[in-house]
Amino acid sequence: MLYIAPSLLAADFSDLKGEIARMEDAGANYLHLDVMDGHFVPNISFGAGVIEGIRRCTNMIFDVHLMISEPLRYVDSFVKAGADIVTFHYEAVNNPMATLKAIKEREIPCGIAISPRTPVEAALPFVGLADMILVMTVEPGFGGQTFMPECLDKVRALRRHAIKMGVNLNIEVDGGINADNAAYCTEAGANVLAAGSALFKTKRPRSVMAAMREAGREHPFIG
Ligand code: DX5
Ligand code: ZN
Repeated sequence: MLYIAPSLLAADFSDLKGEIARMEDAGANYLHLDVMDGHFVPNISFGAGVIEGIRRCTNMIFDVHLMISEPLRYVDSFVKAGADIVTFHYEAVNNPMATLKAIKEREIPCGIAISPRTPVEAALPFVGLADMILVMTVEPGFGGQTFMPECLDKVRALRRHAIKMGVNLNIEVDGGINADNAAYCTEAGANVLAAGSALFKTKRPRSVMAAMREAGREHPFIG
């Protein structure tokens, strides 16, 4: 199944409630929430307080993408705020495996994200352990950047590895995703598409989502 995850970073922040409803009505599956700390990435977005506030507006699955240093220090506040899955960055911690285990102890699904310069070998040991692997297709930190197709080789390697291991892994791609490149992503084995600009900066998010779903149907994983 293909999951579409609008990234709230691209929303009109003066009307979060309306923007979230717009995505929910258009058929989104997850709400992708980019938390940036101005330290791990050179930008600051929003934190647990905003997530707690918008939790009251929707039952959508909150896919919380932590682009922060020391994620373990803050993870409980995001769980309490209403996160449904928490994803931290491989590059942000000294011991990613221990971090994953510590987050899973909270009995919340946990994902691990890799930035464009991190090789896929870093993520392979997490297949079967992490609930999701997020492959960044731009440098983390800002919305509205250009998709880096070379990152899809990592998606392909992860999907192959997951199939070999018999694991039903969610692989999310994030950064510059739109209706035109969605097919390359699904062909490579991604099944969660995070998209900010392509969904929030249009008056017709429903059509964009429909085009993404069609891409997924017409272009399944090619091995
Ligand atoms: C980038 C974020 C992405 C971003 C996606 O650091 O993790 O989720 O908001 O936005 P677009 O789709 O505009 O690249
Ligand atoms: Zn993100």
